[in-house]
Amino acid sequence: MTIYRHDYQAPAWWIETVDLTFDLDPQKTRVLNRMRLRRNPGIADSALRLDGEDLNLARVLVNGAGSSFRLEGGQLVLEGLPDECELEIFTTCNPSKNTQLMGLYMSSDTFFTQCEAQGFRRITYFLDRPDVMARYKVTLRADQHAFPVLLSNGNLIESGPLDDGRHYAVWEDPHKKPSYLFALVAGRLVAREQRIRSAGGKDHLLQIYVRPGDLDKTEHAMNSLMASVAWDEARFGLPLDLDRFMIVATSDFNMGAMENKGLNIFNTKYVLASPATATDVDFANVESVVAHEYFHNWTGNRITCRDWFQLSLKEGLTVFRDQEFSMDMAGGASARAVKRIEDVRVLRSAQFAEDAGPMAHPVRPDQYDEINNFYTMTVYEKGAEVVRMMQTLVGRHGFAAGMKTYFDRHDGQAVTCDDFAQSIADANPQSALAQHLEAFKRWYSQAGTPRVQWNFEHNPEQQTLTLTLRQHTPDTAGQTGKLPQVIPVLCGLVGANAEAVDCVIQGQNHGPETLLVLTEAEQQFVFEQVPADTLPSVLRGFSAPVVLQGPLSDAQWLHLLAHDRDAFNRWEAAQQLMVSTVLRALESDEAGAFSPAVIKALRQILNDGSLSPAFKDVVLTLPSEAYLSEQVSVVNPQRIHEVRESLRAQLARELKDEWEACFNAHNMARGYQADAESSGLRALAYHALSYLVLDARRSDDVVWPGKALQRFKDAQSMTDRVGALNALVQANHPLASPALERFHQLFKGDDLVIDKWFALQAGRCDRGGDVLSDVKRLLAHPDFNLKNPNRARSVLTTYCQGNPAAFHRADAAGYVLWADKVLEIDAFNPQVAARLARAMDRWSQLASPWREAAQEAVRRVSDKPNLSKDVREVVSRALMQD
Ligand code: TRP
Ligand code: ZN
Repeated sequence: MTIYRHDYQAPAWWIETVDLTFDLDPQKTRVLNRMRLRRNPGIADSALRLDGEDLNLARVLVNGAGSSFRLEGGQLVLEGLPDECELEIFTTCNPSKNTQLMGLYMSSDTFFTQCEAQGFRRITYFLDRPDVMARYKVTLRADQHAFPVLLSNGNLIESGPLDDGRHYAVWEDPHKKPSYLFALVAGRLVAREQRIRSAGGKDHLLQIYVRPGDLDKTEHAMNSLMASVAWDEARFGLPLDLDRFMIVATSDFNMGAMENKGLNIFNTKYVLASPATATDVDFANVESVVAHEYFHNWTGNRITCRDWFQLSLKEGLTVFRDQEFSMDMAGGASARAVKRIEDVRVLRSAQFAEDAGPMAHPVRPDQYDEINNFYTMTVYEKGAEVVRMMQTLVGRHGFAAGMKTYFDRHDGQAVTCDDFAQSIADANPQSALAQHLEAFKRWYSQAGTPRVQWNFEHNPEQQTLTLTLRQHTPDTAGQTGKLPQVIPVLCGLVGANAEAVDCVIQGQNHGPETLLVLTEAEQQFVFEQVPADTLPSVLRGFSAPVVLQGPLSDAQWLHLLAHDRDAFNRWEAAQQLMVSTVLRALESDEAGAFSPAVIKALRQILNDGSLSPAFKDVVLTLPSEAYLSEQVSVVNPQRIHEVRESLRAQLARELKDEWEACFNAHNMARGYQADAESSGLRALAYHALSYLVLDARRSDDVVWPGKALQRFKDAQSMTDRVGALNALVQANHPLASPALERFHQLFKGDDLVIDKWFALQAGRCDRGGDVLSDVKRLLAHPDFNLKNPNRARSVLTTYCQGNPAAFHRADAAGYVLWADKVLEIDAFNPQVAARLARAMDRWSQLASPWREAAQEAVRRVSDKPNLSKDVREVVSRALMQD
C-alpha cells in the first residue's frame, strides 16, 4: 500500500502518558501498557486505531473494565470511547525470534530495541506516528543474574530485587517524545562513566555501555561525546537537557546508530575504537556518528517530524550539524577543506546516482510503500546540502539566529520542512533566502540533480568578464517539468599570473569572493576591472549540489589546479582532468593515459611542501568506478575498470620517486597519534604504498612487496596494518595470502576487525574474474554469518556495490549471487535485504550483455511471491525503467 504525503491527517487521539511494564524473557516477554488518552476534537473519524505487528494480544481494558474491540489489518480498533480515558493493553512477544532487528530483539543475550521508524508497534499497540508525543514511565523486570543492567529513557527513579532471582528498575523520561524514540536495554554490560559540567553550570553523567572486555575501546567515543556536548552549546546555544546521557553498543544493528532520547543505541562499529583495532577512518566515523546522534537530541527529539515525509527535517539538518562539527574539530583551513571534499565525494558518487536512478525522490518525498527505504542519501546528504545552502545564503550568524527562531517557535512540537525554512528566512528578512523562499523550497520538492552550465567572455576594451549561468533539472523517475532552482554560486577570479583578482560588480568591490544567486533558467553576471586571461573559479566549496559543466580546456584546468586559492576547486580541477582523460579513453577505445602536463601537475602537488598530506591524498585519488559510470550514458563496467587501472599503473610508474617520499614521510618511530596531521600522513603513505606494490608487480621488484609485508608485521596501529595489507591484496601480490592468514590468526574473535578481513577480500581488484570464487569461499567460512548485518555487508555489499568490475561479469554469476542473497536475507531481515537490492538500481544503464542479464536477475527477485514490501518496492521501481 502506497502512503501519500498529501493524505496527512492529524491524529484522532492524543496519548498523554504511557506507563509500560516489561517482564523480560527471551522467548516470551510480557508487556503491560497503560495509556491516558484524550480525543483530538474536530476529527471526523473518531475511532481509536492502534498500530500493532507480530503481537499476541491477551487483554484490553477501558477505564479498568472489559471493552469491545476488533482487529482490523493489524490494527486494534476501539469505538465509542469517552473523550478522555485510560486504556490498558496486555500483550506478549518473542524477542529471540525477532530476526528483523526491529522492535524488541536479542543480541548476544542482551535485550535491545529499535523503534524508528515503525518498530514500537512490534512492542505494544500504539499510535505509532511521530506527531503523537507522550510522557513515558517504564518498569523493567528481569532475571538479575542474566540481565544485571536494566536501562530505558530518562532518569532512574527506583530499582531493587524481586522474588525468584529477578529484579526491577523504574525509569521516567521527563521529556515527552514520539514512540520511535523509545528504547530499552537489558543485559550483562559494563559502562565507562564521565561526569561533566556544562557551560551553563549544570552537572551531567555520561555513560557508554558495552560488553565486558570492550571497555578499553570506549575512550574515543567518550571524548567525542564530550566534544559534541561542548560544541552544540558553544555554536548553537543548545545544552544537554538530561541529567544522564547513555550510549549502548550492539553488534547486531541494521544501521549506524539511533538517537533514542537519553539512551542512544549504536552499532559497535561506531563506538568501539582502539589504535590497535580501528583505522583512522574508523576513528573519524566514530566521532561523527556520536556527534550525529547527540545532535539529534535537539534536532529530531526536542523538535521532531510531523510525519515521515519530513524525515530530512531531522536527518538533513543533523547531518549538516555533524559535518560542521567534524570540520571544526579538524582544525585548520586545509583539514576543513579535506573534510568538505570527502563529504562531496560521497554525495556525488552515491546521491547523484540515486537521483539519476529508479529510486529518485525529492528530499521531502511525496510517497512511499515502505518508509525504511527512504533513509537515503537524498534525505540525509542532499538534505544536508539544502541546509548548507541556507547557511550560505544568510551567513553563519544569520543561520544561528534562524536556528534560535526555529527553537523559539517549535520546541516540543512535531513540525515540517516548511516550518524550518520559514524560521531561517524569518530571522533573516533581508536575505536572498527570504526574498526567494518559495522558489528555494523547490529543493525539497523537486528530485534530480540540477545541471548548471557556465560560460564566460572577456571584453578587453571594457575590462569586463561576463559570466553566463544556465540551469536545467532533468526529468527523474515519476517527475517531469522541473522549475528553476535557487542556486547559490560562490565565485572567485584567478589571474593569468596566479594573482587573486577582486570581484567588482556594478562598481562595488566584494573582495576575493562573491556569492552569485542564480534564480532564473539563465542569468548573466558582469565582473568589472578584470585583466586579460583571468579565469572564473565557479561554485567554490561546492556551494550547491549541482552538476557543473564548464568550458575550460585542460590547460585552463591545470591553471586552476596550480593556482586557485579555493582548496575545493583545486581538487575539483584535478577531478575534471581525470574524468576527461577517462572519457577520452572510453571514446577512443584506448587504454587510457594522462598527458605529460597532467602528470607534471600531479607531481608538483606531491612535491609541494606547503600542502598538507591529507590534501595531496584526496587530489591524487582517482574518481571511483561508480562515479565514472555516472558520467557516461551506456556503461561498460569492464572498460571503465580497465581504463582506471591503466591510469593507476601510469601514476604508479611515473610518480614512483614521489610515492617513495610519501611513504617514507610517515615516520613510525614517532608512535601513533590520532590528530588530523598524523592521520593525513598515514593516508598518503598507504596510498603511496599501494602504488609502489602495484608497480613492483610490473617490474618484478621484490623490495616494495617485502617492505609492505614487513610493515604489516611491524604495524603499530590498525591503520598501518590494514594499509600495508591492502597494498598487497589490491595488487594481487602472492604475499597477500600468507598476510591475510596471519591477520585472521591475530584478530580472530574481534568481530569488527574480522569484518575488515572479509571486506578486504571481497573488495580486491579482480583478475580475470577470480574474486567471485573468493566471495563464495568467504560465504562458506565458519566466521561468516548472514544474520549479522555488519558481517553480511562486509562481504555482500562490498562485492555487489563496492567492486563493480568483479560483480558485473559477462556470465552473470555475480547477479545470480546477488538475487540468491537478496531473497535469502529477505526471509529474515527485509531492511538489510532491501539495501542490498539497491545494488542493481542502475541496471538499465549497462551495456549488453550485462543489461539483459541484470534485468533477468531483478525479474527473478521480483517474481518471488511473499517478498517483503521493502524489497518489493525497490525491485519494482527498478523494473519500471525498462
Ligand atoms: N535515526 C537514525 C539516524 O540517522 C537512523 C536509524 C537507525 C534507522 N536505525 C534505524 C532508521 C532503523 C530506520 C531503521 O541517526
Ligand atoms: Zn540521524
